[in-house]
Amino acid sequence: MPIWFGGDYNPEQWPSDVWAEDVTLMQRAGVTMATVGVFSWAKLEPREGEFEFGWLDEVLDGLHAGGIRVDLATATASPPPWLTHAYPEVLPVTAEGVTLGGGSRQQYSPSSPVYRRFATRLVRQLAERYGEHPALEMWHIGNEYGCHVSHDYSDVAAAAFRLWLQEKYGDIGALNFAWGTGFWSQQYADFEEIYPPRAAPTYLNPTQLLDFDRFSSRQLLECYLDEKRILRELTPQIPVTTNFMGFFKGADYWEWAPHVDIVSNDNYPDPADPESSQTAAMVCDLMRSLGGGAPWILMEQATSAVNWRTSNAPKRPHHMRAGSYQAVARGADGILFFQWRQSVAGAEKFHSALLPHAGPQTRVFREVEELGAELAGLGEVLGSRLTAHVAIVFDWASWWSLEQEATPADIDYVKHVFSWYRELLRRNVAVDFVKPGASVDGYKAVLVPALFAASTSDLAVLSDYAEHGGNLLVTFQSGITDENLHITEGGYLGSLQKTLGITVEEFAPLASADPNAPVESVIEGEISGSVAVWREYLHADDAQILASFVDDLAGWPAITRRQTAEGTAWYVGTWPSAAVIESIVGALLETAGVDGVLDPVPGLEAVRRGELVFALNHGWSPVELSLSGTDILSPGGAGGAGGAEGTKHALEAQGVAIVVPAAEVAG
Ligand code: GLA
Repeated sequence: MPIWFGGDYNPEQWPSDVWAEDVTLMQRAGVTMATVGVFSWAKLEPREGEFEFGWLDEVLDGLHAGGIRVDLATATASPPPWLTHAYPEVLPVTAEGVTLGGGSRQQYSPSSPVYRRFATRLVRQLAERYGEHPALEMWHIGNEYGCHVSHDYSDVAAAAFRLWLQEKYGDIGALNFAWGTGFWSQQYADFEEIYPPRAAPTYLNPTQLLDFDRFSSRQLLECYLDEKRILRELTPQIPVTTNFMGFFKGADYWEWAPHVDIVSNDNYPDPADPESSQTAAMVCDLMRSLGGGAPWILMEQATSAVNWRTSNAPKRPHHMRAGSYQAVARGADGILFFQWRQSVAGAEKFHSALLPHAGPQTRVFREVEELGAELAGLGEVLGSRLTAHVAIVFDWASWWSLEQEATPADIDYVKHVFSWYRELLRRNVAVDFVKPGASVDGYKAVLVPALFAASTSDLAVLSDYAEHGGNLLVTFQSGITDENLHITEGGYLGSLQKTLGITVEEFAPLASADPNAPVESVIEGEISGSVAVWREYLHADDAQILASFVDDLAGWPAITRRQTAEGTAWYVGTWPSAAVIESIVGALLETAGVDGVLDPVPGLEAVRRGELVFALNHGWSPVELSLSGTDILSPGGAGGAGGAEGTKHALEAQGVAIVVPAAEVAG
């Protein structure tokens, strides 16, 4: 098996005489896998119940003859016009009551039984026809579930929401308690009285909103599972996947991940964003973690510009290569793109592709060919894993609830998580993400940023970890409520109060009249520096104070640390600047005995996957790489780590070295 290389192939956009050239050019580019048919429903079933597979037979046969494997899509991501015209009840509706029409894509309500009926009928046809096709490598179910419509407020959704709630709560009394409907005259007498949280005069019930987020993620998953059941029945030997979207708010991927045979992801870092390589690293680590450490596939990225930002910067030369190797370094066994041939019509004609409008004599196609050839020689990477000694707890329910309205402050949950992740990345420390409640035994340090809505058992796992030798770091707005968004009274934090040795009395966010000019403050003590966004009135009942607030909160603790029975428990009651986070993480890692793969060098990322150390220069000037060993991308050559004896070498702008460390070479 090779490292998969290729991308979405949408041949129905061109006359069939282009297809043979496609295969020839794919071979030239080193393409080993094509994702076919993602948006082909209207071509496969042009009229209700009339299926036309001849063209797809020809495409798959051609790819097979060219030695290219197929990730065959179930084609259900965009219902055809005949369907929404004849059955308009499948269309989704916004919270404001606007029905979303056709002429675009993803125009279906995930709860619609009509949509599901037609979608599963198509899937059955595809599985029966292509289940034995020699090109078939895996199934690609749907596409980016929820990317345009994650929440549907239609009457169909309302009926499904009621059923879901009935199943969850059993009787209406339990729902009334969970939702706290005693307030604002919201008490329900019957499930029939409940609606999705549609546009309302003011704040909606927070637990209703949270349950609707859970329900909406689940409805999308049910669409996926409906299709998967059919594929399992007819083609049990073929793996299935669906493409995730990184830190996508609309779907709780912890719930989804057990249902895919291999995790795959789409990632479009903005070339104009100086932090894009760092946020991309975090996405890669989430994907690896979702699969429990197993290799995953980068299913889509862009060779150069996208077409959906305000202004779409291209990727400069070699940027695409560095980003691809970053994914490989962080566990990917496949590097694919959207899309093979750049469209000449339709909504994505200005989106880059493997084969640009200008043809193969282009720098993009040359870079594609080079990368394809290189990846073909990297079989030894396949299947190997990373070992992380540090974990970050990531929770969709906390994300959803922390970012609701009528909370103490506007906190960007993912940005907050990233502020901690970025420092670990800077130090070249590998990180796993874990879901709340999962065991964290074995990690030397665990970070818990803003775990807002946590059950008693989620918190107990963390308390146990810290008491039994772990090093736990918790940040503000953790353990504020239980899973129903009921406040944990008496100082918040639940069982973590004792573990951390603190109680939180009152919140004191740094309010600013101008959102573009955030107010900063400072902390002083063993750790000093600037902070923003958040402060609080905190009591260090049984903990050492590492830093305190100044100004109007003078004397109140900001950062604490408690020696537990066998470990340590740290609390950070503010959003520290990068420099302060550097000090805190430095102290935490020293306590935990965790070192990075390499010492930090600005712009340089180093990751160990299996026995290999990947060094990636994300900057635009050379950096010095201190690593002895052999660079398998250019043994003994320029731009790598030199020969086995080498120690210091320049890694050019966007350069990549994959080094077998000297000890392994010798051994
Ligand atoms: C998503 C979709 C693709 C395409 C790309 C463009 O990832 O899955 O079909 O629209 O975005 O960036």
